[in-house]
Amino acid sequence: MTDLRESSRPAPEVLAAFEAATGFMPVDEGLALYAAAVEAAGRTGLPVLEIGTYCGRSAILLADAARAAGTVALTVDHHRGSEEQQPGWEYHDPTLVDPEVGLMDTLPSFRRTLHRAGLEEYVIALVGRSPQVAAVWGGRLALVFIDGGHTDEHATGDYEGWVQHLAEDGLLVVHDVFPDPADGGQAPYRVFLRALAEGFEEVSVTGSLRVLRRTKA
Ligand SMILES: C[S@@+](CC[C@H](N)C(=O)[O-])C[C@H]1O[C@@H](n2cnc3c(N)ncnc32)[C@H](O)[C@@H]1O
Repeated sequence: MTDLRESSRPAPEVLAAFEAATGFMPVDEGLALYAAAVEAAGRTGLPVLEIGTYCGRSAILLADAARAAGTVALTVDHHRGSEEQQPGWEYHDPTLVDPEVGLMDTLPSFRRTLHRAGLEEYVIALVGRSPQVAAVWGGRLALVFIDGGHTDEHATGDYEGWVQHLAEDGLLVVHDVFPDPADGGQAPYRVFLRALAEGFEEVSVTGSLRVLRRTKA
């Protein structure tokens, strides 16, 4: 099978916007995500969807891939942060707390990021809890990118909620897949194993980012 990562790259200004954005995804993983989104959206003409917007770093690449395919990127987040982003935890950023409410609010940062990148019109932000949004969603999707909460409850909820909306030969991308527990939490890895057992095949591995293709509904 053709390596998707060799077939497309974002324009330099898009890559620069990605690199300047607040977030956690390294460039090599971003390029693999971008190539998968270009391929899936280009082939099907359907939107791509991300669970876990945060400040819009990965959404920049999905938006640009969607733009190239004449579609949009959807990105779901309640914008209150995951467990590890709360005060006192490893990935907490105090500049992302709304001082009036006293809670994390990454929505303003996300909006600034997409505006700066000139990609606002190619993104639809869905502000809410992933399982609730998935339950009322009605359309088919070219690609589902799981990068939301990293507990079993959240990662499994994202998989079960959104894979049912994936097109027959759509792509599933899972971030933070660590087969060795010494490298990180295991919930995304368990989702990855479940996908393999439920009709997906692996397309590529880049760092902790796995791209899978649905082969059986
Ligand atoms: C690791 S960050 C996403 C990083 C982003 N994809 C990037 O590359 O910059 C995870 C995000 O998932 C969101 N999140 C966690 N659980 C969620 C849930 N059940 N529903 C919606 N969003 C959720 C958090 O608010 C957080 O912003």
